[in-house]
Amino acid sequence: MAIDTPKVMLSEEQILQRVDELAVEISKDYAEKGEIVLVGVLKGAFIFLADLSRRLTIPRHIEFIAVASYEHGSVPTGAVRLVMDVRASIEDKHVLIVEDIVDTGHTLHYLIDMLKTRNPASVRTCALLHKEHNTDVEVNVDYLGFSIGDEWVVGYGLDYAEQGRSFPYIGSVQPDDQ
Ligand code: PRP
Repeated sequence: MAIDTPKVMLSEEQILQRVDELAVEISKDYAEKGEIVLVGVLKGAFIFLADLSRRLTIPRHIEFIAVASYEHGSVPTGAVRLVMDVRASIEDKHVLIVEDIVDTGHTLHYLIDMLKTRNPASVRTCALLHKEHNTDVEVNVDYLGFSIGDEWVVGYGLDYAEQGRSFPYIGSVQPDDQ
């Protein structure tokens, strides 16, 4: 499938406007709490995390984590495994998990449960996109950029078969097999 001409769903301007708003809201909510630990979920969240973190006005510490879905054949089973852990201890820290997209909810659900076992002061979640009608497991997204439908989206960190991550906008594409 050629993804070089996706249909623009969210322009760069719309995305950055929303990132500005989220940064203001998060900075306000955490103003009295001291440092926040931003945990970006690789790979998709790398651009969102970069833009969000630069707009916060509170002290922040940046970490990354990577997970993968277990598949049966090429079908996701819903089970998630840790591929790369954060480097620092999050004990007694205020953690904000930063995701590019919540789809079935399995990844975020796994991460919230796993990070909570490490005795952080709090765990909240921030996602740029949420496919709310696809959700298998209920997860609470405390800071949400946009709710979207069941489309395959690329750009601003999100990929289709590793293509399209660097588009400045978010576009929808139609995979060949659908
Ligand atoms: C995407 C996205 C989330 C996850 C959400 O990652 O970045 O981490 O899927 O899906 P879920 O809600 O159904 O669990 P992906 O597996 O595409 O990896 P990538 O970020 O490295 O591209």
